[in-house]
Amino acid sequence: MAPQVRPATPEAIAEAGRIIASGGLVAFPTETVYGLGAHALDPMAVARIFEVKQRPRFDPLIVHVADVGMAESLWQFIPAIARQLIQAFWPGPLTLVLPKRAHVPDIVTAGLPTVAVRMPGHPVALALIRAASVPIAAPSANPFGYLSPTRAEHVVAMLGDRVDLILDGGPCPYGVESTVILIEGDRVAVLRPGALPIEDVERMVGPVDIRTRSARPQSPGQLPRHYAPRVPVRIGTYTTIREPPDRHIGYLAWQTPPPVNVDAVEVLSPTGNLREAAARLFDCLHRLEAAGVDVIYAEPVPEVGLGRAIMDRLQRMAHDGTPRGDAEKNCG
Ligand code: TXA
Ligand code: MG
Repeated sequence: MAPQVRPATPEAIAEAGRIIASGGLVAFPTETVYGLGAHALDPMAVARIFEVKQRPRFDPLIVHVADVGMAESLWQFIPAIARQLIQAFWPGPLTLVLPKRAHVPDIVTAGLPTVAVRMPGHPVALALIRAASVPIAAPSANPFGYLSPTRAEHVVAMLGDRVDLILDGGPCPYGVESTVILIEGDRVAVLRPGALPIEDVERMVGPVDIRTRSARPQSPGQLPRHYAPRVPVRIGTYTTIREPPDRHIGYLAWQTPPPVNVDAVEVLSPTGNLREAAARLFDCLHRLEAAGVDVIYAEPVPEVGLGRAIMDRLQRMAHDGTPRGDAEKNCG
């Protein structure tokens, strides 16, 4: 099957909505990364997501809604603290995990009693959900454990012939996934740092638990090695480079190219802007990998605001304690 990519025109979005409503798969842009979407209340359609992503097991998915009413149809209730966060940050890169209603299929939540929901802040994503008239379950549109796609071209390269339609809405403005937050009573826990800075959440609800590195992952984003390119990643500046001479070295710089010879360089943000760096992170890594390097050195960035999500992703990529297959099997 030839990849079906269409610019996200109103006609293409309407067609994509029909595909979703009738059980098909559509890749679509969000403000964070491209999603691989299916009708969230149709277990067969959701099962195709796992097939196409080649997830080794079923992991809980995020359900995307176009308004708060749709979220209310999935959750049992919305506590006051969640309402506050929704009011402040939806539509946007904030995913909330709360107890689910019985009709939300187990395949969406991997059997958990909770469901993760977010209202994306991208006009194409919102228009697609409205066109489909159903909530859309969507993980990032990449094979399991691999780099997330931030452009339609990434989706084409990784999954092109395996989805019914890819809506091209240009590059994703944030470029890292949403922040995932679990609400239990009046406690707020971050399960995955993401495009919404934790500081913004804390400003609203006070200090939050950080549960992103628990031994028993509650979120695949918590796997030690995840989001990774196919070559090893090491965190360090150019002074730390130690490689055999025949190795091709890729270098992911924070603000300036290194003053030494390497085979391929990408710069995250010449002006030191963390939002720009986050938006470019996966794209730069896709390009370094395409340049055919054997190893990628990535400079650390400041761990504030979006820098936390960037360092979280880099640390997961750099984790080499466990071979990838084993890390996946160990997932909660
Ligand atoms: O930005 C994003 O969130 C993107 C775009 C497409 O919206 N989606 C995304 O989905 O990153 P995915 O499936 O790659 O990641 C979903 C994250 C995982 O870390 C998953 O474990 C967590 O959300 N999650 C989903 N449901 C959960 C639940 N019931 N309890 C705990 N964690 C959950
Ligand atoms: Mg993902």
